[in-house]
Amino acid sequence: MLRYRPRRLRRTEEIREMVRETSLNISNFITPVFVREGNGIAEEIKSMPGIYRYTLDKLPSYLASLLNKKLRSIIIFGIPSVKDEMGSMAYSKDGIVPRALRLIKREYPELVVAADVCLCEYTSHGHCGVLKKGSVDNDSTLKLLARAAVEYANSGADIVAPSAMMDGQVSAIREALDENELKDTIIMSYSAKHASAFYGPFREAAESAPSFGDRASYQMQYTNSREAIREIQLDVEEGADIVMVKPALAYLDIISKARGLINIPIAAYNVSGEYSMLKAAARLGWLDEGRAMIEILTAIRRAGADLIITYFSERASDLLRGEL
Ligand code: PBG
Repeated sequence: MLRYRPRRLRRTEEIREMVRETSLNISNFITPVFVREGNGIAEEIKSMPGIYRYTLDKLPSYLASLLNKKLRSIIIFGIPSVKDEMGSMAYSKDGIVPRALRLIKREYPELVVAADVCLCEYTSHGHCGVLKKGSVDNDSTLKLLARAAVEYANSGADIVAPSAMMDGQVSAIREALDENELKDTIIMSYSAKHASAFYGPFREAAESAPSFGDRASYQMQYTNSREAIREIQLDVEEGADIVMVKPALAYLDIISKARGLINIPIAAYNVSGEYSMLKAAARLGWLDEGRAMIEILTAIRRAGADLIITYFSERASDLLRGEL
């Protein structure tokens, strides 16, 4: 005689819904948005079907479409037209991101807007910081990241999201924000950001691949989860409001471990390569895109992430609202 029959709780759709442990909410999605210089352009990124780079004139109607899908949080990435050694368009008032932020906050003040804070899209060499004797110099980069964060916050960003993986970037940014009367600006730190092959399509989108070497001397090696927790704890101590694990899919163990130890919100970045991989398989007819997407996003939540930065947000919103 079987006393315990797990199948009892799986018998009908209604029973399964009743005992469901994890749910996916549109309000937990953050949509990445690429903005570029120029006029009249919305260009699709080759390796990321369905994802576009927008010039500022094309941005408002796209953002309106996100709001219609109940997507109210975005993270902005800028693609400048000029790059230099110091990445100066990252922290110039006239850079693409500050201009985008001012426009967005004027048109759609209700959007929760995060701005990625990094130098890689803006440096001629493609590294996330400034170079000294051929390697990325931590402490001089901190000053520039702090300048960028203050510029973005002044232009209307609700959240600044440092992704350069420089030591001390959260405290440098917190200090600079506070000195500039920007005490309410939220810091979402890319705390455990790994040197990953899954950023490939993003680097095409943002034109940010390093021109020599790689990012192994500042991004984490993916072999280490204890070190990831240490990075997250350091960012909490430095004053991060939200911490992030990136990428997401191959890193669910780290999200789960962090969830057990950290009591502030945890974001997971479902990165470009994770998106493209599923898109490609779906195009070939090898996977059901909608079902695989919902399964992946739900698994990221089940691991313990509160927020998910994902290129799937529009499609997922359509499915969750029953419109697909
Ligand atoms: C750096 C940054 C990167 C991503 C987000 N911020 C690229 C990198 O570190 O090379 C990757 C996001 C993705 O792959 O979707 N500014």
